[in-house]
Amino acid sequence: MYKLAHFFLSKIEPELAHKLSILGLRAGLHPKIKLKDNDSLKQIIWGRTFKTPIGLSAGFDKNAEVISPLFKLGFSYIEVGTVTPLAQKGNLKPRIFRLKKEKAIINSLGFNNIGLKAVKKNILEKNFNNLFQDRILGVNIGNNKNTIEILDDLKVLFENLYSCSDYITVNLSSPNTPGLRDNLKSNNFEKIVKSIYKLREDNNSKIPILFKISPDITPEDKKDIALIALANDVDGLILTNTTLDRTKLNISLKGGLSGRPLFDKSNELIRDFYALTSGKIKLIGVGGIFTSEDILTKMQYGASLIQLYTSFVYQGPYFIDQLNKDLSQIINELGYKNISEVIGSMA
Ligand SMILES: Cc1cc2nc3c(=O)[nH]c(=O)nc-3n(C[C@H](O)[C@H](O)[C@H](O)COP(=O)(O)O)c2cc1C
Repeated sequence: MYKLAHFFLSKIEPELAHKLSILGLRAGLHPKIKLKDNDSLKQIIWGRTFKTPIGLSAGFDKNAEVISPLFKLGFSYIEVGTVTPLAQKGNLKPRIFRLKKEKAIINSLGFNNIGLKAVKKNILEKNFNNLFQDRILGVNIGNNKNTIEILDDLKVLFENLYSCSDYITVNLSSPNTPGLRDNLKSNNFEKIVKSIYKLREDNNSKIPILFKISPDITPEDKKDIALIALANDVDGLILTNTTLDRTKLNISLKGGLSGRPLFDKSNELIRDFYALTSGKIKLIGVGGIFTSEDILTKMQYGASLIQLYTSFVYQGPYFIDQLNKDLSQIINELGYKNISEVIGSMA
């Protein structure tokens, strides 16, 4: 039945399909999978236990509506958002395009979400109950489109969300919010990093704060970001958001490209940042993962954890459980006791 529902959703307009998926998950219409923990996939990072390295990346559950159902499908951590201080509608439709043959998606959503207050309410009321104490919730934050000073938005978001999540991601890399990626230039990046860590200190919090990076940055940007991350003891970098690069694709649709065509490019960033930071900054690898071998590749280049989005859309609700099983099998076959032994082994 779920396979049929997934097939039906793959045939209709992508944004409507996404809306129906969220409604279905909210109504409990998802397979009841018997998840099995496997110690070989378990890692403790930032003092938190990640049962597997597989997380859901930002953008699927923008409004924190379906955290519990998503955990039930096998993700060890979920990143909700991107959340902005005020609700916003995003860009004009149509703004999600499936490129099935290329195993890719192009989106130009532009941070459509119900806003900080409503998202916080969802986190507190609907989803994050005691059932999932061993699962991890990240919140991805970003500025409203018309905001002049990004730090004002980040401040209000951080102060409202740090007490109800396990980590915060500052999104500086969506290509669909004008000017956002300029914040990855060294002076801007340094200012943001220092301000947000100061805010954490002022609030007596120890919550991990990560930064999500664009795959389209220059080699100079990479060096600057790595140096700033090291100097400020940044908890982690998420590599990467979607790309504007179309060299691997003969399609001129506007927006951020995700999925298979992003795989090599995002891997390159993992390898570069692992080297530039001598493996001292935790990296989360995202972009184009479709198989357990893909996960292994990202971890061999230096990622400690991974996230995915596009393959989940294409493969459906049983996919994450299968990936976890495949991953523990490979780890076993390769003779590793724990997946952490893989990290950086091909860097
Ligand atoms: C439809 C769609 C919406 C997205 N929305 C967000 C978002 O709100 N914030 C964000 O940081 N990334 C967003 N992303 C990017 C993903 O989190 C991820 O970084 C990217 O898709 C690469 O991973 P993938 O190839 O596994 O999809 C979005 C991606 C897609 C396809």
